[in-house]
Amino acid sequence: MDQRTDRPGGPDLLELPMPQPRECPFGPPPEMAALRERAPVTRVKCPTGLVAWLVTRYDDVREVLGDAERFSSRPGQAVHLMAHADPERPVGELEFSRMDGPDYQRFRQHMGPEVATPRRMAELRPLVQDLVDERLDALAAAGPPGDFYADFALPVTSAAIGALVGVPYADRELFHRAAAAVFSGATSRAELAEALKPLHTYLYKLVVTRRADPGDDALSRMIARGAAAPRPFTDAELVAISSTMLVTGFDTTATTMSHGLLTLLAHPAETDRLRADPSLIPSAVEEIVRFLGGGPGIVRQATRDTEIGGHPVAEGDYIVAAIQTADRDPGAFPEPDRLDVGRRPNKHLGFGYGTHQCFGQQTARLELTVTLETLLRRVPSLRLAVPAADVPFKTGTPVHGPAEVPVTWDAILPAGTAR
Ligand code: HEM
Repeated sequence: MDQRTDRPGGPDLLELPMPQPRECPFGPPPEMAALRERAPVTRVKCPTGLVAWLVTRYDDVREVLGDAERFSSRPGQAVHLMAHADPERPVGELEFSRMDGPDYQRFRQHMGPEVATPRRMAELRPLVQDLVDERLDALAAAGPPGDFYADFALPVTSAAIGALVGVPYADRELFHRAAAAVFSGATSRAELAEALKPLHTYLYKLVVTRRADPGDDALSRMIARGAAAPRPFTDAELVAISSTMLVTGFDTTATTMSHGLLTLLAHPAETDRLRADPSLIPSAVEEIVRFLGGGPGIVRQATRDTEIGGHPVAEGDYIVAAIQTADRDPGAFPEPDRLDVGRRPNKHLGFGYGTHQCFGQQTARLELTVTLETLLRRVPSLRLAVPAADVPFKTGTPVHGPAEVPVTWDAILPAGTAR
């Protein structure tokens, strides 16, 4: 059944995205929060024309994301926002993020050790610290003002994911261009294929090189591990995995880093708390992801007639799980609209939940933690260079956050500066 046209829902069908007034730059849109109380499972029309159930309560969103048998990832997680992502197209053999069950697990288990184990994260930490220090040294040399997003967050996160996968920083334009196409609501399918081609050609060559001459990067490690797997990964599969890591692994984190900085600057008492007690940095990172994460929601499709929060949902219906609105549910978090850098416990859904939850979340946590700790220590005078209301925000992309963060500072202290 064509969900784009069936059950139009009448003239008052709500439309996504809902307005995000300038007064609440950290979201969720007030209308969406009001729906959580009034109509927690409600029919909406998405920018691509997709008609779906918008689910806004914490328990309901967790139930949807946590039950992959009833709610499939098949349509694609951002299909409600991106013109090139037709939810009904067949799942390609390399599109693991649209797979369910064992097909999906085969990919996930193979990639996991590269981006999720505590041992790998501990190995990566000095690298991330060096990248953060180098960018701050470069900002210090250039002098204020700067754009925190373009001059710090994007270079740090691009260099980190490049180093993790095994792609030199000098070649970052390849995955930057691919990501810009993947995450733009306006890209056509033909334009997407065109934008991905140079990255895939490059990665094919890299796979061949690493098979002959392994390094210490994720690609080489996956090739080595694959040899012992019951069904070793093909070159095409390794290209798909590396390409996905590169495309999803930098702007997501850079945007959260930049949006997080804006949030902390708007909450000086919480920043002072962090400065006074750096042991709160890990909980501050979780709180920033809860506060900001998953804004536009992610899509699932019901595999059978079922219900969500007592509301009937038919087989084939699409669902938009509104993560950020769920993470502000007073039924799940005390004072949910208050930023609390010491919040514990914090079972937020900002990285998703269940089998498809963000596979780069430990990498993102590492980068956010090192950045926050280093900024507090080396740039205590960091502040906005323009009024907060003038900070521009991105539109037409599922990676929601500021497009630019003009900042200034009095001094950037040397890398070795102790707290
Ligand atoms: C703060 C930064 C980040 C946030 C808030 C974030 C959030 C998310 C969310 C909400 C999902 C959806 C999961 C679902 O469909 O259930 C997701 C999936 C994903 N993320 Fe992240 N992410 C971040 C950083 C990263 C990084 C650094 C990487 C790569 C190293 C990455 C790679 C992925 C991939 C590959 C998926 C698809 C997983 C799948 O479908 O199995 N993400 N992320």
